[in-house]
Amino acid sequence: MAIKVNEITSWVAEVLDFEGSLMTSGEKLEIEQAFRSYHVLVLRDQTMTASQLSEFSRKLGPLEQPINTLYLHPESSDVLILSNEIRPDGTAVGVVDGGDGWHSDSSHQPEPAKATILQSIKNPDVGGDTLYCNMHMVFDALPETTRSKVVRKFGVNNVSKVLNPRVKISDARPDAKEFYQAALTKYPSVLQPLVRTHPETGRQSLYCSPRFTIGIQDMDDTEAQPLLDELFEFIYDEKFQYRHTWSANDMVIWDNRCLNHKATGNLAPGDIRRMHRTVLRGDSAYYDPEGRPRRQ
Ligand SMILES: [Fe+2]
Repeated sequence: MAIKVNEITSWVAEVLDFEGSLMTSGEKLEIEQAFRSYHVLVLRDQTMTASQLSEFSRKLGPLEQPINTLYLHPESSDVLILSNEIRPDGTAVGVVDGGDGWHSDSSHQPEPAKATILQSIKNPDVGGDTLYCNMHMVFDALPETTRSKVVRKFGVNNVSKVLNPRVKISDARPDAKEFYQAALTKYPSVLQPLVRTHPETGRQSLYCSPRFTIGIQDMDDTEAQPLLDELFEFIYDEKFQYRHTWSANDMVIWDNRCLNHKATGNLAPGDIRRMHRTVLRGDSAYYDPEGRPRRQ
């Protein structure tokens, strides 16, 4: 039986009648087709174990290994745990502050992520939504004068929050200060084209984020920082966004090559949210003025 794809918005769809842990080669093609048409796919009613999530993810492509190795799932090192839960001894169950500012996953790495797969394990009673911003729509909305300032320019991206005045290091995550201090020397800044061509569709998007983009190559900060602020205002504009409120057993796959996303938090005190995450590895980002896909 074919899977069912219901459009939620022009770039978001939900997938029904599909059991990811039993995905056939035919269903894999249907999922990949849907993923080319929509940038966010919400797979409903998935109850995979961490091992099954790893296996399912690997069928869709090679995986990125999480750089944060403290919170890997004991069943599979492909799976990172995101959770606000703190054990009685003060240690965290998962990454506490994962995704707390607008970003595209691993855009601070030379070969940034293609897609992220996030599985809801425990939803909070209130809060915990995830926001997505369509960066194709943002690029299309940029005034011509702004567009001309970013085309062929490169954003400076860095994972360490120490270097980024736009973000705050979470007090709730016990190891955060040490992690981001160590990241300074471990992960040097990476240049990414500010305008990125989608390798499958050829469509252009703005490719930067308040979380990871800390400057612009060959541009003084007196000019670059106000320009980044202007670009980020588009990301904050709700008309380019989709808000996902998680239902039990939702699994969401999104395209990091043309989206920014953000965890909204706002949980009630004492409430717990837990997610499992895998990341599909991507290729280096590029800009082609003709909008040519890298592969057909
Ligand atoms: Fe993320």
